[in-house]
Amino acid sequence: MIRFFFLFSLLIHATLAKKAAPADPSEKWLTLSGKPPLVISRGGFSGIAPESSEFANSMAISTTANFGSPAIFCNLQLTKDGMGICQTEIRLDNSTTIAQVYPKGQKIYKVNGEDVRGWFALDYLIEELYSNVTCVQNIMSRPDVFDGQLPISSVDDVAGTKPPQLWLNVQYDRFYTEHKLSVATFIQETTRLTHVNYISSPEIGFLKSMNGKVNKARTKLIFTVLGPDAVEPTTNQKYGAIIKDLATVKSFASGILVPKGYIWPVNKQNYLEAAPTTLVTDAHKQGLEVYASGFANDMPGSYNYSYDPSAEYLQFIANSQFSVDGVLTDFPPTAAQHNISEYSLFAGQPYLIITHNGASGVYPGGTDLAYQQAINDGADIIDCSVQLSKDGVAFCMNTPDLAGDTTAMASFMSRATTIPEIQAKSGVFSFDLEWAEIQTLKPQMASPFENTQSLVRNPAAKNAGKFVRLADFLDLAKTKAVSGIMINIQNAAYLASHKGLDIIAVVTSALSNTTFDKQSTQQVFIQSDDTTVLSKFKEVPTYKRVLSITELIGDAPKQSVDEIKKYVDAVNVPRGTLLMTTDDGFTKYTTNVLKEMQAANISVFVSVIVNEFPTLAFDYFADPIMELASFIQGIGVNGVVTEFPATASRYLRSPCSDPSAKTAFLLMPVGGLLSGLDAGMLAPAVAPAPPLEVADIVDPPLPSVTNTSAPVGPGGNGTAAPGPSSSGIAINANVGLSLLAVAMLSFFSIGY
Ligand SMILES: *[C@@H]1O[C@H](CO)[C@@H](O)[C@H](O)[C@H]1NC(C)=O
Ligand SMILES: *[C@@H]1O[C@H](CO)[C@@H](O)[C@H](O)[C@H]1NC(C)=O
Ligand SMILES: *[C@@H]1O[C@H](CO)[C@@H](O)[C@H](O)[C@H]1NC(C)=O
Ligand SMILES: *[C@@H]1O[C@H](CO)[C@@H](O)[C@H](O)[C@H]1NC(C)=O
Ligand SMILES: *[C@@H]1O[C@H](CO)[C@@H](O)[C@H](O)[C@H]1NC(C)=O
Ligand SMILES: *[C@@H]1O[C@H](CO)[C@@H](O)[C@H](O)[C@H]1NC(C)=O
Ligand SMILES: *[C@@H]1O[C@H](CO)[C@@H](O)[C@H](O)[C@H]1NC(C)=O
Ligand SMILES: *[C@@H]1O[C@H](CO)[C@@H](O)[C@H](O)[C@H]1NC(C)=O
Repeated sequence: MIRFFFLFSLLIHATLAKKAAPADPSEKWLTLSGKPPLVISRGGFSGIAPESSEFANSMAISTTANFGSPAIFCNLQLTKDGMGICQTEIRLDNSTTIAQVYPKGQKIYKVNGEDVRGWFALDYLIEELYSNVTCVQNIMSRPDVFDGQLPISSVDDVAGTKPPQLWLNVQYDRFYTEHKLSVATFIQETTRLTHVNYISSPEIGFLKSMNGKVNKARTKLIFTVLGPDAVEPTTNQKYGAIIKDLATVKSFASGILVPKGYIWPVNKQNYLEAAPTTLVTDAHKQGLEVYASGFANDMPGSYNYSYDPSAEYLQFIANSQFSVDGVLTDFPPTAAQHNISEYSLFAGQPYLIITHNGASGVYPGGTDLAYQQAINDGADIIDCSVQLSKDGVAFCMNTPDLAGDTTAMASFMSRATTIPEIQAKSGVFSFDLEWAEIQTLKPQMASPFENTQSLVRNPAAKNAGKFVRLADFLDLAKTKAVSGIMINIQNAAYLASHKGLDIIAVVTSALSNTTFDKQSTQQVFIQSDDTTVLSKFKEVPTYKRVLSITELIGDAPKQSVDEIKKYVDAVNVPRGTLLMTTDDGFTKYTTNVLKEMQAANISVFVSVIVNEFPTLAFDYFADPIMELASFIQGIGVNGVVTEFPATASRYLRSPCSDPSAKTAFLLMPVGGLLSGLDAGMLAPAVAPAPPLEVADIVDPPLPSVTNTSAPVGPGGNGTAAPGPSSSGIAINANVGLSLLAVAMLSFFSIGY
């Protein structure tokens, strides 16, 4: 086991060593000391490996070592023989295999007045824990491949991994004292040999007793603040009250460790209050440091952060009023790489941020608000997927099926149909509704995790915004002088032959109406999955044509690339076409598709990028910026198609960008996390996707536009479109089915 950790650490070090970041002495922070905030890893990198295991600790150190002097946080528990081990909970059964190893070991103890049932460290000698008990991950969203592999760590073991700083938290001094075990004695012995930088505790009596026992020049005493209504055992006062008297706190501690909600409260709807409390500024005035706890990339703090954990750290360390002095986190690299200017590597380079229905992670896709947000968030290219109403009005929406992105199901359920040419499930289609009817609907926020209550997007804006006609979209793009636009055209053949709608003519005239065809300052991308559609836009030389390849491909052989080159300047491919992941969520390898396309001067865009952590491979540490870095810095795509342009923008550009400060973002090599694991522990490799064939690229000519409102006379051609009566039957038969489908399915699925 130890062998593979060693290998893994080497890998990380090798990637980092090339890009050591020189510290900038001119850096000025609003922390008490003026130094950058401390990154404190709770139980090491507990977001990936079981907390406080050797792997978690060494990984925390290797992923943060280039960013200041991070601390490893150990929650101290004592064994029967008075030895210190690191485990967050007083009960060991939630984070170790102790219940299996000692099935009869369950006990009930009174802890701060309450009965707690479980397995307790103080019933075992350290040898009994060491020899047979191993650590497990106790949070479902985190990898379980390390479970049962790693022994519990003692404080000595943690010190042995040589953390730049060591932080011991003593949550239960009173409990251990009641059972004739002395935390103070253990700490005094430990500090003789090991430098402990911080000792924290929620028990005031313990902190006061430590005042004479540690060298305060070397070891800071920190008051751990629990929830406002929890009662502090020494004073019998509530923590919420104690924290109001910071002068008294200063008499026994040099800082406080508080849940982040004390600093920036979140309301019942899970939105941040408009302003922070004065806790940090008040504490700093008293000369008290403030450390904030409760950070984890896979536990979204508030809707305001749009599932981007970097946004949350920045809120606490880089707002205009203060910076906390440190953050306690389960995902230390995201916290460590907090200085945005470190991402400035790419300033001025041609990596495009292309939206997917505007900033559809923040506002309902394709609405005025989503586009406005996208522009504010720094998108280069805003996109419009053009849909047509029955009367030919062009507007922007993800798909012609209005069921997902609007309130259509409530109003027009009876108009639902199944159109296999467009999608398998039934829907309410824009081309079956008049524009006036569509305008009676409201936009509706979609999310890849609709069924997971905790991962909905900005619910306060669920139905906010207005639908945007193509003409208005083009006007907006002109007025706001965005760098470019992407017009996406789907289903052109179906619209022509079945609905008498000529989407190509509509788009062409809208573009020329707004003179997009006679300028070159704003880039125009025309995107389609149909090469015949793309060839219709060949006449305007400034237009760039983009083939969207929605199926996964494993390879792009030369003859296919040569064929594509006849039609397009760029391809837009799903993430899995460039970078394969295993079924259990680790990156595996990169395909050659990007190299093959770029060798022919075909740009490659990757889509669709979203922030929500369950879409991310474990190698990205639940941090969407890690995924962006992997595609941009790691693989070298030309653009990312994203629903969260703010996050891409945060990564790619920064106002304080300085091209000479070439400090790179830490990047896990593709397959890096996997390479540290035994093959037996992993799901079998996923079969590679098939290669792209020439036949997949060449599309048939477009059918002519039929006049569907003309009666089909005896001399006419009745085969082109099914008559209204036959599809009418289909509608009725499908209403029940479609209701069920809508209730059960999330509207997004494989596209992510
Ligand atoms: C990052 O560091 C630079 C100097 O190195 C500083 O000017 C800038 O303000 C820092 N950025 C943030 C967000 O703190
Ligand atoms: C186990 O630990 C996790 C993470 O701390 C927690 O969410 C969960 O509630 C715990 N389970 C029990 C049974 O205490
Ligand atoms: C650990 O397990 C082995 C085999 O199951 C057993 O012989 C040994 O006594 C156990 N050690 C402890 C300390 O319980
Ligand atoms: C968070 O979002 C809510 C709702 O949009 C807003 O009222 C609030 O001011 C935001 N808070 C911060 C700190 O931006
Ligand atoms: C083009 O502009 C004219 C006049 O401004 C307008 O009447 C027409 O509807 C526009 N056509 C399109 C397709 O936007
Ligand atoms: C790609 O573009 C470069 C520069 O425009 C040109 O020199 C090169 O020949 C092109 N390669 C191919 C395969 O078209
Ligand atoms: C379609 O047919 C109807 C009825 O014959 C006619 O009024 C209308 O002008 C035709 N539309 C087109 C675009 O030819
Ligand atoms: C009638 O439809 C068939 C099959 O779609 C087509 O081949 C034929 O050209 C059409 N005839 C006319 C007069 O449009």
